[in-house]
Amino acid sequence: MDRSGRIVNASYGLLKQWSMKNVLPKNVNLQLLRTYHPPPPVSSELKGHVIDLRSDTITKPTIGMKKAMMDALLGDDVYREDPTVLELEKRMAKYTGKDCALFVPSGTMGNLISVLGHCEHRGSEVLLGDQAHIFLYEQAGMAQLGGIQPHIIPTRPDGTFDVNEITLRLRIEDVHCPRTTLICIENTQNVCGGKILPSLWIDQVGSIAKSVGIPLHMDGARLMNAVVASGESAARILQGCDTASICFSKGLGTPVGSIIVGPEEFMYRAIRLRKVLGGGMRQAGMLAAAALYALENMVDRLADDHKHAKLLAQAISETGSKNVICQVADVHTNIAIVHLHPDAITPEQFCNRLSMVCDEESQVVGEQVIIKVFPWTTDSVRFVTHHDATFADIQVAIAKLKHVICEIDLQMK
Ligand SMILES: Cc1ncc(COP(=O)(O)O)c(C=O)c1O
Repeated sequence: MDRSGRIVNASYGLLKQWSMKNVLPKNVNLQLLRTYHPPPPVSSELKGHVIDLRSDTITKPTIGMKKAMMDALLGDDVYREDPTVLELEKRMAKYTGKDCALFVPSGTMGNLISVLGHCEHRGSEVLLGDQAHIFLYEQAGMAQLGGIQPHIIPTRPDGTFDVNEITLRLRIEDVHCPRTTLICIENTQNVCGGKILPSLWIDQVGSIAKSVGIPLHMDGARLMNAVVASGESAARILQGCDTASICFSKGLGTPVGSIIVGPEEFMYRAIRLRKVLGGGMRQAGMLAAAALYALENMVDRLADDHKHAKLLAQAISETGSKNVICQVADVHTNIAIVHLHPDAITPEQFCNRLSMVCDEESQVVGEQVIIKVFPWTTDSVRFVTHHDATFADIQVAIAKLKHVICEIDLQMK
């Protein structure tokens, strides 16, 4: 979020960069001239140590995970005969304290099935934060496919919203209005920088929902990050929620797969919806085996990712730069948002600089390091730590970041 609350995604950032390039020679802008200019790169065909911090979705299955996938017992899951999928669903229902679970291909489908399953009538309305992934990045699936209207509430920097806003915005029985049928929350909150929602706040939202007879759904794409960082169990966090969708293919490192958890009567509707959306998979046990492996081997290690994100934030903060800023206290889990002073450098320029190497830098850092990140908002860049960026990678990334920040600060003096 920038200072005016606007969200900008990577593709927008790149478009902006190209159009700026095209107008600059003709329309010299004095403000732009005062901004940072990167040194020439070593070579345009640069090879080096690539540290990809764009997202935890880039993680690849480990050798142990691949072996578990090869050894999985299989059946036809559309017939509900795949023993590995059934085992995963049983494990996840227990883990989250819910009646049942359903394995689905992606987080987007998990959320869509959940919203469609709760809002059975066209003209329903869903209350959710204006920075929610479901609202921003899921193609308005609820509107496209269900005739459901999202009704957004301003998201606060900590990922929550004002609970009084729920009561103010509820629309239950008025011939002019849609009916509020569902509330959605997101934990950890991605756009706000991997923020953990306080469980007491979730409980409060849950009890308001219950008091007016509507369900609460959690987009828990990174629920396990919240579990590990807060020390609370998944069941405790989800106590006030009716359903949740949880991803295995983010920090847990599986190639594919998410799960919906919730009550038994809901799951029958969810199975039908999964089928019509094309998410009924046959021998899905290979993917469920990866998720079972991740539950055993990849959850506790998320603590390392959280430590790495904090290390990055700490190193940036210790530079004391006024142009490149990261608040350590804002890092709750595996995401660090780095803010850039608008007079110094744009997110696009910062990302481009991190993806290239100059001569002097290789001597200081000790090797040619390429950091991949992308613009997040009009004045920030998101760094996401994960299994495939080791402690050693983070150390060299820090060395490079410090060098680049120093370069920017020197030019802005
Ligand atoms: C918070 C959140 N919810 C849902 C999703 C969607 O997950 P998928 O990419 O598996 O569809 C993402 C993806 O990054 C996410 O960050």
